[in-house]
Amino acid sequence: MTATASNAYGSSFTAHMVLARWTEEDGWSRPATLPFGELPMHPAMVGLHYGQVVFEGLKAFRGRDGGLALFRPEENARRFRHSARRLAMPELPDDLFLDAAEELVARDGHVLGDGDARSLYLRPLMYASEPDLMLRPAREYTFLLIAFVTGGLFGDADAISVWVSHDQSRAMPGGTGDIKCAGNYAPTYLAQNRALEQGCQQVVWLDSEERRWIEEAGAMSLFFVRGGPDGARVVTPELTGTLLPSVTRASVLDLAADLGHTPVVERVSLEQWRKECETGEMTEAFSCGTAAVITPVTRVRDAGGDWVVGDGAPGPVTRSLRSALVDVQHGRRPDPRGWLHAVAAR
Ligand SMILES: Cc1ncc(COP(=O)(O)O)c(C=O)c1O
Repeated sequence: MTATASNAYGSSFTAHMVLARWTEEDGWSRPATLPFGELPMHPAMVGLHYGQVVFEGLKAFRGRDGGLALFRPEENARRFRHSARRLAMPELPDDLFLDAAEELVARDGHVLGDGDARSLYLRPLMYASEPDLMLRPAREYTFLLIAFVTGGLFGDADAISVWVSHDQSRAMPGGTGDIKCAGNYAPTYLAQNRALEQGCQQVVWLDSEERRWIEEAGAMSLFFVRGGPDGARVVTPELTGTLLPSVTRASVLDLAADLGHTPVVERVSLEQWRKECETGEMTEAFSCGTAAVITPVTRVRDAGGDWVVGDGAPGPVTRSLRSALVDVQHGRRPDPRGWLHAVAAR
């Protein structure tokens, strides 16, 4: 399918794509910028059959000064290499990843007008493109970068409700939960459908061993707020190896400290979440990610009974963290850590 005009998330792409190939003999080719379009595909392509496919998601924003900037792309380049290594794929050097991202933003970033509140979502992908059905790592790979404009996965004012999955897991110890491989996502669709049937927007994943500890919500990181609004404890589960080391999660921990809160990394059990909401100790919860930005979580649906977080409305700590994040991304707030990676016009 080629690009179509649509408001749906990720179905209408910009005019170009960047492509590079890797072979055992020659390593990586120079990335080429091509018109966005279909690719030839061999029916025995390894990526299609055995899932040797990794991807990333990052965004570029139009700043207050009119320039374009990528948000922390170095982190995505590093995670992309980490994902590739785990699936026995060649690592794309960070400079090639960053060059490709800059090139696509420079070419197609004009789709973001001055003062545009939307962003350009970039999707880097690497797949095993060798045609061969032997069960072993492929000897040919394709790197691809495409982009689309988005206003966010959820609307600005939206709060979501979540449904707790007790029987299906997203990740297991020793598995691939800490990387972004294609195979992590389709197995979540059935649980996501069940969440929708329960009237919820997202699934909450528990750890697969004890089915007790909260890990993530859908394809997002989760945060909990204790106390507040001045000087809250902003809590997120620790990265045990089954959670994705999310760039937004790391950014929120830093911004929480900047806003005078105490960032806390610790395991939170489902039972604690319920009890602390009942006692009022836990005042807010939110999910976050590149696509979701920061989205309040206000209701929890569980087989053991439902509960409401705080007063059931988006809370002040969540709202101020969201504003702080979006303001840094659009150059409206100081960027002391150098998260913005300016893209020069080419
Ligand atoms: C499973 C999972 N958790 C969390 C996130 C959020 O990560 P990030 O903030 O790097 O987008 C994502 C999205 O990439 C994800 O797929």
